[in-house]
Amino acid sequence: NPSKGHKHFLHIDDWSADEVRDVLKRAQDVKAKIKSGDTSFQPFKGKTMSMIFTKQSMRTRVSFETGFHLLGGHAVYLAPDDISIGKREATKDVARVLCRYNDILMARLYGHGDLLELAEHSAAPVVNGLTDYNHPCQIMADALTMIEECGSFEGKKLVYVGDGNNMVHSWLRIAAVLPFEFVCVCPEGYEPDAETVKHAVDAGVSSIKIVHDPMEGVRGADVIYSDVWASMGQKEEALAREKAFSGYQVNDAMMAQAGGECKFMHCLPAERGREVTNSVIESESSIVFPQAENRMHAQNAIMLHCLGC
Ligand code: CP
Ligand code: NVA
Repeated sequence: NPSKGHKHFLHIDDWSADEVRDVLKRAQDVKAKIKSGDTSFQPFKGKTMSMIFTKQSMRTRVSFETGFHLLGGHAVYLAPDDISIGKREATKDVARVLCRYNDILMARLYGHGDLLELAEHSAAPVVNGLTDYNHPCQIMADALTMIEECGSFEGKKLVYVGDGNNMVHSWLRIAAVLPFEFVCVCPEGYEPDAETVKHAVDAGVSSIKIVHDPMEGVRGADVIYSDVWASMGQKEEALAREKAFSGYQVNDAMMAQAGGECKFMHCLPAERGREVTNSVIESESSIVFPQAENRMHAQNAIMLHCLGC
């Protein structure tokens, strides 16, 4: 990390279990303050953030910009064509310039290596707003949502159904620090990165299973979680993927198999009728909108921690 009190947030397990727990607690406290209408907490007053995007976004862009503003700061949105990071200008030069203007940077990029390079050359903390490899802010919001909606995160059983993608890598990286039961149910050939699975298993903190049978996998789940079958950058594979994932749609039968208390979560955006039925996402069990709201609250706490506030 660049200097004392300044921390990047690139992978959840860059932080210790205590730090992750503290940030989740902080998120609840700051959320309560914001929800009560109390506007006196302005820790980001006088601070600025650049938000670099090379991919599309609704939640990440709006929740970061709004959250930073609500706590007193000013965020600058840089759309894909604005700075053309890595094309118009080398990533390391973007890092070395922006950190002279801004107190914190947030970036949503394709290559994870590009994010690591940005962080390596930035004297200001860098927050990962999603790469092809992982999406840690989403999973912090998801853990916060489980604390609120399931009574706790630790000890619960979360079954992810679908592609072994950046969301799964993020679940595996939180599994390396906080104990829970994680099952990834995916078709053969769509498993998560083997090194990331090994890293999580070797940490010895959580129970981790990568399996292929959805109806078997979801048994006893507290949460069934899904994501799109074709992520950003893979849309040309959508048709082939639709075939490969045909038995992996989260539907009423799958929810019933898990039991009446099971909740449904999805990072959104969702493709209704593909990875999840309209009936599941609209059901009483679905907590996708409180989950989306929590992006802002979790990220506020992440930024507070990064800035040492
Ligand atoms: N879940 C999520 O990151 O949404 P956006 O792509 O809209 O930011
Ligand atoms: N796996 C998805 C997540 C979107 C929030 C993607 O990378 O497109």
